[in-house]
Amino acid sequence: MEYRKLGNSGLKVSAISLGAWLTYGSDVVQEETSMQCVRRAIEGGVNFIDVADMYSYGRGEELVGKVIKDYKRSDLVISTKAFWPMGDNVNDRGLSRKHIVESVNKSLKRFDMDYVDIFFCHRFDVNVPLDETVRAIDDLIRQGKILYWGTSMWNAANINDGHAMVKQINATRPIVEQPEYNMLDRDFVESGLETALANHGMSMVVFSPLAQGILTGKYNDGIPKDSRYNSVDWFKDNVTEDKLVKARGITKLAQEMGTTAAALAIAWILYNPLVASTITGATKPSQVDENLIFFYVNLTTEINTKIESILQNKPVIKNYTD
Ligand SMILES: NC(=O)c1ccc[n+]([C@@H]2O[C@H](COP(=O)([O-])OP(=O)(O)OC[C@H]3O[C@@H](n4cnc5c(N)ncnc54)[C@H](OP(=O)(O)O)[C@@H]3O)[C@@H](O)[C@H]2O)c1
Repeated sequence: MEYRKLGNSGLKVSAISLGAWLTYGSDVVQEETSMQCVRRAIEGGVNFIDVADMYSYGRGEELVGKVIKDYKRSDLVISTKAFWPMGDNVNDRGLSRKHIVESVNKSLKRFDMDYVDIFFCHRFDVNVPLDETVRAIDDLIRQGKILYWGTSMWNAANINDGHAMVKQINATRPIVEQPEYNMLDRDFVESGLETALANHGMSMVVFSPLAQGILTGKYNDGIPKDSRYNSVDWFKDNVTEDKLVKARGITKLAQEMGTTAAALAIAWILYNPLVASTITGATKPSQVDENLIFFYVNLTTEINTKIESILQNKPVIKNYTD
């Protein structure tokens, strides 16, 4: 396994990591299978497990907390997040001081842990003054409940504002952004975000690296019964013919290279030096195993050129600060 530094910090994460969204603690994956997936990942060298308060309404955190009791806590990097509503109450959401503090305390109880390594703001909150959010996170860091913090789907302007605020109030800076990034969904990252992250010494840990399964090639010839397509209603709209044409092209290229589409898709993301980790999902231990072989893919300039000619979706760079 390769380990990469998270931005301008001393923390290292495995180049491939495992997330619990729609899987562990949910009704889709049985508890024993979930535990096997997490174990298989850790035993394969994965040290970073990504969770959020809202993954299966807290059950994702409970499941991960339960499995990792069999391992040395300090060997692992565990993250959680807050922002999305966790109940009907007006305060049970967003990035207010009240919600952040209460949410982290509840997460720690569910994990049965003293601290999380990384706390992510699960989105930018336009309804809360930024100094309130940053001070609340800084206080949790001083209390030792979180060690580092990051953002998720903050655009370049949000990142610039966040860093201006931490400088102004002398608070702890965010070290990592968690955007969606894969061969099929690259606009958000490649249209200006990367410059802002590089300027502020931040890395990315990217989510949905396999486009939720499309880039494994599993939908190339039809819909497998046992797939996210059949377990998550809204995901059906994501499986478009345009994406399938690209996935078929990537699968063919991977076969010519003697590897899998999933491994090639992960290696392509990790070619970007701003990416510290690709946060994969898996419903079966065999998927965890397959996704770990990215390490053997040799991504040359020639292969990258072939990939771009299949994808035909490189975005034109926009400047968010204009
Ligand atoms: N910050 C955010 O807003 C945000 C949003 C989304 C996700 N995330 C994080 O990113 C993590 C990963 O997201 P994701 O689940 O969308 O990632 P993904 O790796 O793109 O998709 C994972 C899904 O694809 C299928 N799959 C994976 N490997 C496979 C293989 N080798 N062969 C066949 N099928 C395979 C499985 O679904 P099936 O078997 O059911 O088809 C699996 O659950 C989440 O768990 C979460 O931690 C964060």
